[in-house]
Parts: sequence; structure tokens; C-alpha cells
Amino acid sequence: MTRPNARGARVELSGWGWKHSGRDTHALRGVDLTVEPGERVLLLGASGAGKSTLLHSLAGLTGEDGAISGEHEGSLLVDGAPADRGRGGVGLVSQDPETQLVMARAGDDVAFGLENLGVDPEDIWPRVERSLTEVGFPYGLRHSTGALSGGEKQRLVIAGALAMRPRLLLLDEPTANLDPAGAVLVRDLLSRLLAETEATLVLVEHRVADVVDLVDRVVVVEPGGGVIADGAPARVFAEHGRSLADQGVWIPGNEPVPELTPAPGGVPLVETVGVSARTPFQVGVRAAPGGRCSTT
Ligand SMILES: Nc1ncnc2c1ncn2[C@@H]1O[C@H](COP(=O)(O)OP(=O)(O)OP(=O)(O)O)[C@@H](O)[C@H]1O
Ligand SMILES: [Mg+2]
Repeated sequence: MTRPNARGARVELSGWGWKHSGRDTHALRGVDLTVEPGERVLLLGASGAGKSTLLHSLAGLTGEDGAISGEHEGSLLVDGAPADRGRGGVGLVSQDPETQLVMARAGDDVAFGLENLGVDPEDIWPRVERSLTEVGFPYGLRHSTGALSGGEKQRLVIAGALAMRPRLLLLDEPTANLDPAGAVLVRDLLSRLLAETEATLVLVEHRVADVVDLVDRVVVVEPGGGVIADGAPARVFAEHGRSLADQGVWIPGNEPVPELTPAPGGVPLVETVGVSARTPFQVGVRAAPGGRCSTT
């Protein structure tokens, strides 16, 4: 798949910070980070460390007219311009496809983003159809988005992002809300698509082993702070694997083991008082063939 504008975008953050409206503390602060065109970065950090906030900011959603309000400091540039001024080149896929599908029909949903971008109307439908084919969407343009499984919805969201021909692809736990089969479907799709595009990638994913082959760099951020580790995956895991695992990140070879410690005396999972169950039928006897009786 060769795309026009396929060359990746350059991302540059300098002393960047963001404080959400209504919060006393920064989600992130003092972030210094440069991602070169075409680089593939896995962004890690504890829950609440600000990974989604960073992705949303890269997508331009925290700009002056953006959907997320708050205060920024420092600079965040995509190809040298503030992220909210160059939206066309950025594709964001969030962890919950439900929140990203806006239209009732599959084709309209992909077309919506292109219309917003001001793409020439004649080009919109060919681009929609091509993107749906690329993600292996199994239904027609008029298929109801409400009738899709989670994995199918996420494939549709990815088609919407691809249709925009992004030079910066932002994937925020794209398989987190999917059942195992849906997750495999979407991961396979992503690895195929990433092999065919030169877009810069910033990916957030807790299950590191599933995606580590797709990236060439790992960046770790800390809550309320900036970048605390940055480098080749093997080196970052060797140096920070233990603390990342302690923060709930599933590092290869250090995946969490469920702890089932019996509580003293046992803890009841279900308690019932005055509960009964009824059969809708009357219990009785009937004559079975041969004259014997059986209970019903
Ligand atoms: N819209 C918002 N308004 C106010 N605070 C927010 C908003 N979105 C996120 N936050 C806060 O900003 C901080 C960073 O949140 P963010 O969702 O970016 O973390 P994360 O690293 O993506 O976490 P997770 O791994 O759980 O997805 C958290 O303290 C969170 O509560
Ligand atoms: Mg998040």
C-alpha cells in the first residue's frame, strides 16, 4: 500500500506540560521529546501517567478550539506547527471504538472525517472504499455501525484514521476493549498496515509483548512529570522493567500473575436471604411409552 503523503511527521515537544481544567496538578510537565519522521514509539507509564493526554494533545484536541480544555506550557509541534493547526495529517485511534463512531452507517462514518478535513467531494467515496478494503471490513458502505462487534467497530475506526492519510498515527490501547478474538484481528491488521506505511507512530499499549515487534523505541512518562526513560526496547526494559512491572505495565517476561490469597475465614462471594427459584412448569408425573411413569 503506497499512500500519497506517506512520509512520517516530525514531533517535537519542549518543556511541554498540560493541566486539565478543574485539576490542581499537571497531567504531564517538562516533557522534552523528539520523534523523527517514520519512527515507531511505544509510550508507556503507570495508569494516569498522562499517555492519553499526550496522544490527544498530539491530535490537536487540547488546542484553543479543541474538545479538551485546560492550560498548556512549553511547546508541542507536529511538523513544526502547533498540533491543532495541522489536523489533517494526524489519525487517532482510541481504546474505546464506541466513543469514536459518530454515524449510523459504516461508510458515512469514514466519510465524516474526510468531509471535516475539506477533502474534495469527488475524492471522498473512493477514499472511503479503499480504506474499508485495506482494513478488511467485511460489510458494505450502508451497514449499520450499531450492528458491529467490538473488533469490527475498531477496524472501522482504523479505516477512518487511514482514510485521512495520516503522517502521524496515534494508537491509544487500540485492543484494550476487545475480546481476545477481536484483539487478535486488530493486532494483525495493525502489523500489516504498519509494514506498509511510513507514518510516524506513537502507540500506547499495556500488553507490551503483543506489540514490541512493531516499535523501535520505548518512551516512559511519569505522572505529573516528563520522560523518565527513552531508548531501544531491550535497553529500556533491562533498566526499567522492574519498576514498569510494579506500575502495572506488562513487560515481556514479567507479566502479572493473578494473586489468589485465601482471606482468613473465607469471604462470601454471594449471600442470599429468602431467595427461591421457580419452574414455569408444574412438577408431576406422566405415563411413559410402555406404561411406566417418569417425572417431569
Ligand atoms: N478530561 C479530563 N479532565 C480532568 N482530568 C483529566 C481528564 N483526562 C485525564 N485527566 C487526568 O489527567 C491525568 C492523566 O490521565 P490520562 O488519561 O492521560 O492517563 P493515562 O496514562 O492515559 O492513564 P491510563 O493508562 O489509565 O489510560 C490523570 O490524573 C487523569 O485523571
Ligand atoms: Mg489512557
